[in-house]
Amino acid sequence: MKNLVVLTGAGMSAESGISTFRDAGGLWDQYPVEQVATPEGYAANPKLVINFYNERRKQLLEVKPNRGHELLAELEKYFHVTVITQNVDNLHERAGSTEVIHLHGELTKVTSSFQPNNPRFIKELKPEEYEVRMGDKAPDGSQFRPFIVWFGEAVPMIETAIDYVDKADIFVIIGTSLNVYPAAGLLNYVHSGVPVYLIDPKEVRIASGRAVHVIQKGASEGMEELKKMLLEIRD
Ligand code: APR
Repeated sequence: MKNLVVLTGAGMSAESGISTFRDAGGLWDQYPVEQVATPEGYAANPKLVINFYNERRKQLLEVKPNRGHELLAELEKYFHVTVITQNVDNLHERAGSTEVIHLHGELTKVTSSFQPNNPRFIKELKPEEYEVRMGDKAPDGSQFRPFIVWFGEAVPMIETAIDYVDKADIFVIIGTSLNVYPAAGLLNYVHSGVPVYLIDPKEVRIASGRAVHVIQKGASEGMEELKKMLLEIRD
């Protein structure tokens, strides 16, 4: 089976009812990004940040995967699929995707404020624990913080992601404005000759100038079309 590597962003979950970040009315219009998505913002007002992510977590209980997520999961019948997502929701997993790399963390997890990337302190929350409170502590005595990669923080999963991209036979990009690095740079690791597809209702600027098959549609409709195209080039 060919290796199909898919990079997804907020647009993948838009049809499930989760706002994107940079579209008009997006999350970064509603909340100052410096306050809720930087280590400095967290240091200045941890309660505000914890509440912001409590709200995001609560929303997970109200949304469900869309047809786009489902079609992507179904492609596992025909390809070895690796999903590299910038999304912190769990909709790929809930749709049935079995190999999902979260570059920017996961809403369903919390971790130590002192050592956020130490696996010993990363804890998966059950839905009834989604409301994290000030005073909820990691085993090292620090406040439990969201397991989210904030602006200015290291992206530990990027190396794993690069290893998969390096082995991709087909590369697909869905619903990301490609504004945020290092995720946006993953395309540079796709070998030449590997077909690249992009699904997005808007035009996305590709810095590398590489040839891309653009499907200018939303994730669900775009995935229907992509599936047909991919089945023609599977082995
Ligand atoms: N289907 C597919 N794509 C869509 C849809 C849809 N229905 N609706 C909108 N989009 C596209 C937009 O056109 C845009 O190109 O999704 C993209 C969303 O871009 P951003 O809001 O910038 O989101 P993303 O690229 O995922 O952001 C990257 O930025 O703030 C950080 O950590 C956050 O992971 C996030 C990162």
